[in-house]
Amino acid sequence: GKVGVLYGGRSAEREVSLMSGEGVLAALRSRGVDAHGFDPARQNLAQLAEQGYNRVFIALHGRYGEDGTLQGALEQLGIPYTGPGVMACALSMDKTMSKRVWMSHGLPTPRFMVLEKDASPAQLDAVASELGLPLMLKAPHEGSTIGISKVASASEMQAGFDNCVRYDDTVLAEEFISGRELTVPVMGAGRDAHALPIVEIRAPQGNYDYEHKYFSDETQYLCPAPLDAALTARIQSLAVEAYRALGCSGWGRVDFMLRDVDNAPFLLEINTSPGMTGHSLVPMSARAAGVSYEDLCIDILRLARL
Ligand code: DAL
Ligand code: MG
Repeated sequence: GKVGVLYGGRSAEREVSLMSGEGVLAALRSRGVDAHGFDPARQNLAQLAEQGYNRVFIALHGRYGEDGTLQGALEQLGIPYTGPGVMACALSMDKTMSKRVWMSHGLPTPRFMVLEKDASPAQLDAVASELGLPLMLKAPHEGSTIGISKVASASEMQAGFDNCVRYDDTVLAEEFISGRELTVPVMGAGRDAHALPIVEIRAPQGNYDYEHKYFSDETQYLCPAPLDAALTARIQSLAVEAYRALGCSGWGRVDFMLRDVDNAPFLLEINTSPGMTGHSLVPMSARAAGVSYEDLCIDILRLARL
């Protein structure tokens, strides 16, 4: 049948999504899938049904693509889609809610506090003294390091906070974990959910930001990450537990910090529509497992459901 590759969209990650979608579209077509690009920012979603699409591959990132709202619309239209359902997407898109669910499951995630957008300077100070410095400030609903500030000193708190409230109504303040940055793709659902090889990201000065994610060639990626077998297995099983705790299915990518002092892993977030660009990490991990980009796209599409 006819497959829609949804890409572009209206989020702050539109540019990333255009790159992901072009890759996915070319891959599916190269395997003989009758795939067509569809940009919900330009076309009405109802046209998917009118034009006879019977499955969609979601290559949108961020709001209105990865956050459950699109998934709800596709449920209404009765069109099977890749990735998790409404609730798992909504929980995963919100870094604060993800952490609350993980804590309730006894899964490790950095300590945090939530600031309202009208927080006073005194409240910012209180958060800094409670969590210690440096700390991370995050707009809970963004991706690709948009709306994230690392605050190294009290004097930077206000500017970091102001950056985050441009994107969200609340700000997640999180303890900074000094260590190694890891990410783990997970595919499947329920008992079939399984982790792919771990990717370690070594960005210059530990600064894996938007530029380094998509445009720079300075970032070093190690896959499979050089970790001993026991630690690898532990992190992969933690990734699957974190994914299942949020009700994820289809596919996703779980981001971690591995604390340098004791090799303790901490969950940061799950991406339910991970990047599929030439620089992206799920394709890199799949390749290490012997799965080409094209086969990966076919596998993700095969897991599409309502
Ligand atoms: N939010 C980007 C697309 C990612 O996690 O890959
Ligand atoms: Mg993300």
